[in-house]
Amino acid sequence: MIERGAGEHLILVGLPGAGKSTVGRALAVQLGVPFLDFDTEIERREGAPVSRIFRERGEAAFRAMERGLTEELRRAPAHVLAPGGGWMTIPGNAELLRPPSHVVYLRLSPGAALRRLGAGVARRPLLSGPSPLVALERLYSERDPIYAGADVVLDVEHLDLQGVIRNLRQLASLRGPS
Ligand code: S3P
Repeated sequence: MIERGAGEHLILVGLPGAGKSTVGRALAVQLGVPFLDFDTEIERREGAPVSRIFRERGEAAFRAMERGLTEELRRAPAHVLAPGGGWMTIPGNAELLRPPSHVVYLRLSPGAALRRLGAGVARRPLLSGPSPLVALERLYSERDPIYAGADVVLDVEHLDLQGVIRNLRQLASLRGPS
């Protein structure tokens, strides 16, 4: 594996359902680096699911938690990171880590994101209204131009997990232990 310095993370961004957590966990194993899923870590620290944090404390409180975690990661050993879908849209978050981190946008259509989320849609407070598809379409149109500021944009619409990982390792010129 290529040695990476402190704070040099690989950060996966994209809509809910893009596969950030699934891809990130598997990629981290292959690269032999730790994986951190922001939502899972925030839920662990707060002892509450993200949906309850949004409901009881509001989105701004959740965004402050994301920011705090981002600040901590500036000096952490290299990780694969999967922040929630809103992380890159908050000004200053990506700038805290990049450089030296690298950001990869896992791009897919709102319809594909909804299919991949399946029952997981219920755990996404921003998708809890009458039409998750309309909500995802709105998020896509607002966020795609922001996500596109990633270092790498990977179209994952027609790729399975192994295909995404293969592409990521090629694109980022990463080599796992063979
Ligand atoms: C959010 C996405 C969620 C979670 C929170 C807010 C967003 O993470 O952080 O519900 O703003 O898109 P996933 O992208 O993992 O669903």
